[in-house]
Amino acid sequence: MFLLLLNSSSNLKTIVESLTSKLNSKEALSLKKKRHLISLADYSGEEIDFVVSVAQIFKELSKQRALPIDLLKGKHVALAFFENSTRTKTSFDIAATNLGAHVVDLNISTSSTAKGESLGDTASTLDAMGTNAIIQRHSQSGSLAGLNDYVSNSLSLINAGEGKETHPTQALLDYFTMLEYVDSIKGKKITIFGDTKYSRVARSNVRLLSKMGADIHIASPENLLARDLESLGVKTHLDLNQSLEDCDFIMALRMQFERQEKDLSIDRQEYISRYQLTHEHLKKAKRGVKLLHPGPVNRDLEITSELMDDLSYSVIKEQVSNGIFVRMAVLAILLNDQER
Ligand code: CP
Repeated sequence: MFLLLLNSSSNLKTIVESLTSKLNSKEALSLKKKRHLISLADYSGEEIDFVVSVAQIFKELSKQRALPIDLLKGKHVALAFFENSTRTKTSFDIAATNLGAHVVDLNISTSSTAKGESLGDTASTLDAMGTNAIIQRHSQSGSLAGLNDYVSNSLSLINAGEGKETHPTQALLDYFTMLEYVDSIKGKKITIFGDTKYSRVARSNVRLLSKMGADIHIASPENLLARDLESLGVKTHLDLNQSLEDCDFIMALRMQFERQEKDLSIDRQEYISRYQLTHEHLKKAKRGVKLLHPGPVNRDLEITSELMDDLSYSVIKEQVSNGIFVRMAVLAILLNDQER
């Protein structure tokens, strides 16, 4: 299927065989039929676990220093980031490169979208050039799904973060990271706190974690509380300490100033005194609790710098590196053997 095995160890051969078998499995074929990753609402719990299992193989290949591979040789992957990004954009780029694909960065400020070309026409243009995937970040929820009417059946649409609703690969990499500490997330208490109202990370995580049977709590000031998540069984809190009692994982969120309503006034000092996570708060949580944050972090606002850098709790850097393997898994499953 792909070139790797010359002089490789038997351990490496086993890993590659496992990858080959996964990519030819009925689970992979079922995901490939979906063609896109627009929202995790479209993926079952089993399909999510399958993606994670493929990501685990890529992490193992990385440990064996066996990357890059040529699985997606000849494929073209376009990055269309209409909002700023460091982690997601770079890790999709590295993920595609690790799989042997050619990456096209559609630099938005110099692209024809800046001359008024519509998103649909841009997608149709990339499709006509034989692009295999468009990986898009955009401020408007639903914009990626709308591109489906403009592209052929040979192009996959992959969501790299959209509005305040969806960021599926972030939730996948968060789940992947948690599974490095527990065998299953079922029944585990996960507290997501901070600006939940404007957070696509919170919504995508809730969508994923509720499928996996987690006990999900969110804590925010009233004007930043995602009340819409209560209908998904999420327990809401205004008191951060109360939300943290006996929790297994804490997920801090970035304050999303760019998406907040203009008239929303937040007193920074009051926010810090009530919602900034410190080492002291962790006494409420379970021993061994792990702290996640999708990044970028506003240092000393959402969490103290000391806690962010305390590797006995913080797995933020692991989240970043795991993002590469999860995104490799998504690309490999959706684009491998794509007819184009
Ligand atoms: N977590 C996340 O989406 O980070 P970037 O904005 O840097 O991609």
